[in-house]
Amino acid sequence: MVGDLSYANQYRTTGGKGAPCFSCAFPDAPIRETYQPRWDGWGRFMEPLISRIPMMVIEGNHEIEPQVSGITFKSYETRFAVPSEESGSKSKFYYSFDAGGIHFIMLGAYVDYNATGAQYAWLKKDLVKVDRSVTPWLVAAWHPPWYNSYASHYQEFECMRQEMEALLYQYNVDIVFSGHVHAYERMNRVFNYTLDPCGPVYITVGDGGNIEKVDVDHADDPEKCPSASDNTPEYGGVCHLNFTSGPAKGKFCWNKQPEWSAFRESSFGHGILEVVNSTYALWTWHRNQDIYKEDSRGDQIYIVRQPELCSKALKPPSVTTTNSLPTLSVNYCHSLVSFLTYLLCYKCYNHV
Ligand SMILES: [Fe+2]
Repeated sequence: MVGDLSYANQYRTTGGKGAPCFSCAFPDAPIRETYQPRWDGWGRFMEPLISRIPMMVIEGNHEIEPQVSGITFKSYETRFAVPSEESGSKSKFYYSFDAGGIHFIMLGAYVDYNATGAQYAWLKKDLVKVDRSVTPWLVAAWHPPWYNSYASHYQEFECMRQEMEALLYQYNVDIVFSGHVHAYERMNRVFNYTLDPCGPVYITVGDGGNIEKVDVDHADDPEKCPSASDNTPEYGGVCHLNFTSGPAKGKFCWNKQPEWSAFRESSFGHGILEVVNSTYALWTWHRNQDIYKEDSRGDQIYIVRQPELCSKALKPPSVTTTNSLPTLSVNYCHSLVSFLTYLLCYKCYNHV
C-alpha cells in the first residue's frame, strides 16, 4: 500500500465531525490530529485480509501526523514493521524486498530524497545488488506520482523526480506504482517527460477510495491548469517546470491529454499485477463498480520487459531541468500483488 492508509489525521475534520478546517474549528487544540482509535479500527477492518495476504506499506502525507516537539510519522513508525534492516536501510521510510520474481523498492517522498542524501545512497547500493537472474522484475513504489496529468497534485513532486529519475532509469526499473491522486492513470513508458521504450511504466492507483471524493479535473481541461502556487508538497521544494519541447513547449500544462499519459479514469478501484515469467506481466485495473459485471475490467495490459534493448546499467545518468523471449527456466507462480491505496472508502469507513 503506497501510503495514506487510515486518514486518522483527519478524523475530526473531513473524516469525522464535518469540520472543514481543524485549526479553525478547534483553535485551542494543542496538537493536530492523530486519532489513534481510528488507526485501531482500521487495523480491525483490515485484519481478515492482511492476516492472509502480506501487506507492505510505505508512508504517505496522511501519515505525517505532525505533533508537538516536531514529532512526525509516530503511528506509521510504531504500527508497521518493514524490512529496513534486512535491506540495508537505516530508515523505515525506504526499504526493499523480493517477492514472486520481483525486487520491490519502496521509496520515501517525505524524507530527504536528494542525490546527496542517505536515501539516494541506499537506493544506489540496493540497485547495484539486484540480481536480475533471480528477480528479473524491478518494481518501485512511493506515494506521490511523478507523472500525473490530473490537476490535483500536478507536478507536486517534480523536485523528487529531478533528483531520482535518472538513477531508476539507469537500472531499468520496469514499473512504478504511486497513489496520492484520487483516480487512476497509466502512463506510456517515459523518461524525463519524453516517450522512451526503456523508461518505466508509471501507474497511479490512488483510487482505493477515501473521504475526499475522486479527482476528476485534468490539468489539460479548459481553465483547470493549476496556478504556480497550487500543489506545493508537504515535504521538499517546488520545482514546477514548463515543457521545453513537444506540443506543450513553453507551457506548464498541455491543452490535451499528454502523450505520456496512456489511460486515465476517475473511478475508485484497485489493480492486480500478475507476473507470468521474466518477460511478461499482466496488469489489470478494476473499477469498484465492475464487481457487478462478470469479466469486466477498467484497464488491462501486458507489460513486457526488453532487457536486450534496454541494458544501460553502466551508462551514467543525466537529467535536465516488446518482444524478447524469456531468459529463465524458472516458472514463477503468478505473483499477485494488489495495490489498494486509500483503501478506506466512505462506505467502509462507516462500518469501522
Ligand atoms: Fe496523499
